[in-house]
Amino acid sequence: LVLILDFGSQYTHLITRRIRSLSVLSLCISGTSPLSSITSLNPRVIILSGGPHSVHSADSPPTFPDGFLDYVQSNGIHVLGICYGLQLLVQKLGGAVKVGIAQEYGRMEISVERGGGLFEAAGEKQTVWMSHGDEAVYLPDGFHVTARSQQGSVAAIESPERRLYGLQYHPEVTHSPRGMETLRRFLFIVCGVTGDWKMQDVMEEEIKVIKDMVGPDDHVICALSGGVDSAVAATLVHRAIGDRLHCIFVDNGLLRYKERERVMSTFQSDLHLPVTCVDASDQFLTKLKGVVDPEVKRKIIGKEFINIFDDFAHKLEQKLGERPGFLVQGTLYPDVIESCPPPGSGKTHSHTIKSHHNVGGLPKDMKLKLIEPLKLLFKDEVRQLGRILNVPEAFVKRHPFPGPGLAVRVLGDVTEGNALDILRQVDEIFIQSIKDAGLYDSIWQAFAVFLPVRTVGVQGDQRTHSYVVALRAVTSEDGMTADWYYFEHKFLDDVARKICNSVRGVNRVVQDITSKPPSTIEWE
Ligand code: XMP
Repeated sequence: LVLILDFGSQYTHLITRRIRSLSVLSLCISGTSPLSSITSLNPRVIILSGGPHSVHSADSPPTFPDGFLDYVQSNGIHVLGICYGLQLLVQKLGGAVKVGIAQEYGRMEISVERGGGLFEAAGEKQTVWMSHGDEAVYLPDGFHVTARSQQGSVAAIESPERRLYGLQYHPEVTHSPRGMETLRRFLFIVCGVTGDWKMQDVMEEEIKVIKDMVGPDDHVICALSGGVDSAVAATLVHRAIGDRLHCIFVDNGLLRYKERERVMSTFQSDLHLPVTCVDASDQFLTKLKGVVDPEVKRKIIGKEFINIFDDFAHKLEQKLGERPGFLVQGTLYPDVIESCPPPGSGKTHSHTIKSHHNVGGLPKDMKLKLIEPLKLLFKDEVRQLGRILNVPEAFVKRHPFPGPGLAVRVLGDVTEGNALDILRQVDEIFIQSIKDAGLYDSIWQAFAVFLPVRTVGVQGDQRTHSYVVALRAVTSEDGMTADWYYFEHKFLDDVARKICNSVRGVNRVVQDITSKPPSTIEWE
């Protein structure tokens, strides 16, 4: 295991992904976690991430826990500090870090002064991505410089005897074209790690964990959303415990066009999972009436889902004579990272951006225990796992759909007028046009958004005062960052015409052309 200690860099999740792409399992926890959290994971290699802090800042900059350096040294663990991580190592080991004379941001050239460790040979030049103000000016005993920037500042250091390494730049970003080569060298040559982490192993391991967790007579319930995550999670649990898994599909009134019929028929004919369909649309929409705050909406929806699951569990108890003790959720790693509150004063993790209902909205007194078999995986990894489990391609390739459904795509009160109906029709036209144009698989996610804004138009010689809808399509690797998708003008023109001509109540179509960040993918 390669453990990443996160000190707040916007690139931390990228380090995790890059290492996994080398078939090495990597996990990331807060850099200020207690030593016991680190030792319990028994890492072979530890990477200290970058971060926005300075080791000199007055408000106690985050650092690894007491005893960390003794622990790594006495257990033969290799450590690589990246950017702030390098500065932390230097400072804690008795070297000196100063505010750089000239701060280095962006693409830079570095020259390798010593090969054999992180670099192959002295004399190499590389373009790398720097983003730092402070720099190491005096190295602790046993360290030497292995690369310098054009300005002569320290770009890489190592102390092979103590198995400690540092890079002042970010090898994980694509702007450092040879960064992956350096990470590969570090893991495979310097640390002697073998890249043998495979999805097949993840599957077998997860099945074993589920079997151990769920007793031989226990029953489990699983909510299927119609998306890839819950379908893969359910299939995995079904492999582990067979028909003691009971699935439920909730129509919360926030589904897309004909979604209930379409999804239920695929569950039954392709996935062979026994599913009970519950129509709870009135229940959800009544609770959402008049609610406009996105976070409140998310919390209400999360709570209603749990009420329905409890009710489902109760009915099963009457039928089986045994109350199901577990609930399966298709929570993914990005959901966990993005919903993680900044720890205390450390602020070393991503700030809470949205309460993803399958993480943030769960009540503390929930009776069901959670099984979250995908909690450590990114979306593309879930898709790989789905293929190994023979989950139909229709599910595996589906664009993600958020748990709170169209509630986060109708801005404001979802029960206002016929907003949901309008959105369903617009979304269907947009998605069908994307499929017809053969673009569906090149887009990470596409959808329409209903804006509770009315503008003046002219349709059929008549003045209209109708709603605006927005089209959003993005490309992304894992939903954590995203770029807006560039459609041909002709495509957009056709879609906008089709929408205004066939959806009553819409007279204006706009396109969202912001990436994430600064926006998020969903509008709420
Ligand atoms: P944002 O809007 O945060 O979305 O950039 C990132 C990805 O997560 C999906 N999303 C959710 N998925 N429950 C989910 O299961 C949620 O509450 C939720 N909110 C957003 C979103 O569709 C995108 O793919």
